[in-house]
Amino acid sequence: MAIVAEKNLFTLHTDHSTYQMKADDLGYLLHLYYGERAEGSMEYLLHYGDRGFSGNPYDAGSDRTYSLDALPQEYPVRGNGDFRMPALIVRRENGAVSSDLRYAGYRILDGKYELSGLPAVYEAEQDQDVQTLEVDLKDMETGLLVTLLYGVFPKKDVITRAVRLQNEGQELLTLESVQSASLDLIYGDYDWIQFYGRHAMERNVQRIPAAHGAHVIGSRRGTSSHQYNPFVILAEKETTEDFGACYGMSFVYSGGFQAFAERDQYDQTRMGMGISPEGFSWSLKPGESFTAPEVILSYTGKGLGELSRQYHRILRHNVCRGMYKEVRRPILINNWEATYFDFNGNKIYEIAKQAAELGVEMLVLDDGWFGKRDSDDSGLGDWQVNEKKLGGTLGDLSERIHSLGMKFGLWIEPEMVSEDSDLYRAHPDWALAVPGKKPVRSRYQLVLDFSRKEVVDYIYGQISSLLDTVPIEYLKWDMNRSIADVYSNGAKPEEQGKVLHQYVLGLYDFLERLHRNYPQVLIEGCSGGGGRFDAGMLYYTPQIWCSDNTDAIDRVCIQYGTSFGYPVSAVGAHVSAVPNHQNGRTTPLKTRANLAMAGSFGYELDLNRLSEEDKRQISIYNQEFKELWPLIHSGDYYRLSNPFCMKQDQETAAWMHVSEDQREALVFAVLLNAHGNPSVPRVRLKGLKADRMYCSRETGTVYSGAALMSAGIVLSDLKQEYGSIRIHLTEMKQENGQSREGEIQ
Ligand code: GLA
Repeated sequence: MAIVAEKNLFTLHTDHSTYQMKADDLGYLLHLYYGERAEGSMEYLLHYGDRGFSGNPYDAGSDRTYSLDALPQEYPVRGNGDFRMPALIVRRENGAVSSDLRYAGYRILDGKYELSGLPAVYEAEQDQDVQTLEVDLKDMETGLLVTLLYGVFPKKDVITRAVRLQNEGQELLTLESVQSASLDLIYGDYDWIQFYGRHAMERNVQRIPAAHGAHVIGSRRGTSSHQYNPFVILAEKETTEDFGACYGMSFVYSGGFQAFAERDQYDQTRMGMGISPEGFSWSLKPGESFTAPEVILSYTGKGLGELSRQYHRILRHNVCRGMYKEVRRPILINNWEATYFDFNGNKIYEIAKQAAELGVEMLVLDDGWFGKRDSDDSGLGDWQVNEKKLGGTLGDLSERIHSLGMKFGLWIEPEMVSEDSDLYRAHPDWALAVPGKKPVRSRYQLVLDFSRKEVVDYIYGQISSLLDTVPIEYLKWDMNRSIADVYSNGAKPEEQGKVLHQYVLGLYDFLERLHRNYPQVLIEGCSGGGGRFDAGMLYYTPQIWCSDNTDAIDRVCIQYGTSFGYPVSAVGAHVSAVPNHQNGRTTPLKTRANLAMAGSFGYELDLNRLSEEDKRQISIYNQEFKELWPLIHSGDYYRLSNPFCMKQDQETAAWMHVSEDQREALVFAVLLNAHGNPSVPRVRLKGLKADRMYCSRETGTVYSGAALMSAGIVLSDLKQEYGSIRIHLTEMKQENGQSREGEIQ
């Protein structure tokens, strides 16, 4: 059994980890342990001591050694004498901030809980023994019932957490912070790993000591943001890519968030994650309830690489949905960088025609096909086709594209409105804006109030009528600004603190309707590239445009950082023109293709402008990607070097995909910096079977798995700056102890 409950001791086992908590004699739910799989009670870890300035709950009587300020908590609250970062802050009707949660019961259920209106990890076909634990905590003073939800996925080494709150009392309660998960680690010296960035340079990796005090990151932007990703890691100091203990938290949520690590006065570390408390204030009347979104927790003792693979598996199998979950997605060509707003139907057709001849399978018509939209200062909200610009209906264009044997995809940005639009002129109150104050503009656009159902319904009606009348197989769902003016004309003053979360619920409602009613449509998420790259969006959009930066060398870093928390299958990646439009760099076509292959694979340029030789190469890459896709998509992903920490003369970024049965592997390497008279780049491979022989398809050379992993592979062909290579290894069949072909090195 994954979950064992015995005398108020709750033990959650996955194949390689154990999580334990206990409701003690006073009814406080104490966290005991999360780490390597272990049997028996961990209660012996608790230490009780008389601590100055760490108070004692009244019920402890004369026992001065019992303090919630020192003991590890499962769900810490403000107001009971624990002064560390709380998971819950509740303001009572009389203004007091005070909670005191005591254990009130539990339930163990088969299968995984669901969260109404929110994305959540689900039980997939191949899962076994998935269970749910619900633990009730009650505040006897206020009548607030807090139910902690745990979903245990034994084979995936994942535990999910979420929280339901129900006001069972008589007074109005205001939730000022509800975190979804809090984890107290009694022992250990940790580093905090976060993924920070900016537009066009997302998910840089930063590893810093989790020192005394609280280190808090998050987003106040209404979206998960380019600036900090809602995936974080706490790793033991000694932990490397391949060894050591580490904990991940991934938020299945696309709005503002908070994530933190706090090292306390007794050298214990608390890690937490939830909705950003800033801007959040949720009144809960008697009888009302609130659900906090889910956090995916995972632990491994085998290093950061294994932690990533655990997240890749759970996101691919248990978060992403829809018909493209395990089916290869069409290789696409997007016209954005080819034309920007300057196109007509014929130009799009010509781009598609050339692409189809080279094996591209879908044309995506990007921004500018609707309303009055020839630049980014108008038209958003008017989802009527600009037939004059297209030279016909959207149906006509879709038909022309389909006649080439291609699918047809469309860009939309449903959450936005331009001031210069018919929609804004008709409904200015549908934009988020503070009455009497001029709103903050960003890319000249305002944000539609998706906290209001009538707004969501209206835009849904516009988009669904397009999908009902035009053959469309793909949508690129964009969101191109942060939310600054948080005020809804549809909410009372005392409910304005709900608006940001209700906005996200409105977004999810829209996406869920699309998912249900148009199952054949593949949706790619986007927010100025990777500004909303999170597990919540992946529930609706199995791929997300990773970054507006399409330069292959910058993408090495962006995709490296992204790989810590997200699978390759989630990464939207395209080959674009050189010099690159974002940074002016020129890189070889092969390198651009190799980077795009570590993702959904597609193009973002006009192939008509390429030389015949480049076109020939492109049709080869398309063919190769189609063949390599199962290995890339379903294989285990290994980071082989860290592009953020390169030593001179070993400036080679490398990664690889290994098939589940370890019989096949694909290695990619890129030379980031070239020097005169250089050392030869080498890289050690990972994830192979030491006792097997592997043959390189490119050179026919045969190597033992042990040699490849401990001595490495020599990349002598990697001489040109920004050059790259791909090595496809397949296992040699053994005959009488001899390999069948090639020489053994
Ligand atoms: C965002 C996207 C781009 C493109 C433009 C269109 O920036 O990330 O890929 O779609 O919008 O305006």
